Amino acid sequence: MTPNIRRIAINTGGGDAPGLNAVIRAVVRSSEQRGWEVFGIKDGYDGLFEENGVIRLDRSAVRGITHLGGTIIGTTNRGDPLNWRVLDEQGSTILIDRSQEVIDALAAHEIDALIAVGGDGSLSIAQALFEKGLNVIGVPKTIDNDLAATNLTFGFLTAVETATDAIDKLHSTAEAHERVMVVELMGRNAGWIALSAGVAATADIILIPEIPYEIERVCDKIQERYAEGRNFAIVVVAEGAFPVGGEPLFQRQGGGKQHLGGIGALIAEEIAEHTGQETRHLVLGHLQRGGGPNAQDRLLALRFGAAAVDLVAAGRFGCMVALDPPDVLAVPLAEAIAATKNVPMNSDILKTARALGTCMGD
Ligand code: F6P
Repeated sequence: MTPNIRRIAINTGGGDAPGLNAVIRAVVRSSEQRGWEVFGIKDGYDGLFEENGVIRLDRSAVRGITHLGGTIIGTTNRGDPLNWRVLDEQGSTILIDRSQEVIDALAAHEIDALIAVGGDGSLSIAQALFEKGLNVIGVPKTIDNDLAATNLTFGFLTAVETATDAIDKLHSTAEAHERVMVVELMGRNAGWIALSAGVAATADIILIPEIPYEIERVCDKIQERYAEGRNFAIVVVAEGAFPVGGEPLFQRQGGGKQHLGGIGALIAEEIAEHTGQETRHLVLGHLQRGGGPNAQDRLLALRFGAAAVDLVAAGRFGCMVALDPPDVLAVPLAEAIAATKNVPMNSDILKTARALGTCMGD
């Protein structure tokens, strides 16, 4: 039975990704064509617990935002309503479940359905709320491209473009100084960004979490290049990469949370020690999430937003929009969060890297 929809809400959760604003615009525009009102919840679910945290998104609110990075309604990767952090009487942090408050707050705003835009964490929350009776549709987002049920997530191609551009720039300074340059890229425990940008920018060595590396193989490749008179090298390393028998590295950042990171610095140090070559490293970091979406990500985000509204209209709650080229389909949220997508060993991009003589550290 098709539901009677009058008002829907949208939120964006987890780390931002280029294309979030394009999704918001598509949701607002296609909802308005159906005569629905759209509301944006600020900062994931936080807005539901705050005064003025739920804002009306009409046509004028989403004018001229398709090409903008970030998200006009804000995001957070700390606001999980199922595991909400509060201090107990002793001052210790405890977790409480505020999911019923979320459902009640949406009902108080007379919201008939929620479009939740996010990565695996946000989509897991969406699934839990769906199981508690909320009408939810998911839209997959992450620069990491590690969601299993969709061929692509928006934000990924822009991140790859940013990283490729950065590696291109490193080439000239590496060559001028006859140095080894090591660049650490994002991607969590998947190597999609490092592999794609590394191949596109013709890196000499690409290290990804799916292929534990041996530092000797990395140094052999560098020495081979120098012996051939190519007196510089570019090493691309995914933040989740680790050596054979080792584990990914974490470092503390603001907020006390642990983040993947530090592997680029370690590898640079080991390369300098083993080869004697002057080596520098950099972490590209959040530059990969910043800026506006490229044309492909804009298009994908707009398609996802419009498709999500179609799913609301059809009452297909508990589903997520997904790209299955050339189509955008609906897949159960439960399926989408069940597994992450890593680079498979038969990946064509991986085969291409090897065919071009790129060292993968193995
Ligand atoms: O999931 C996207 C991502 O950018 C990862 O690639 C990275 O590990 C993480 O988020 C960084 O998160 P934060 O924004 O909390 O530093």
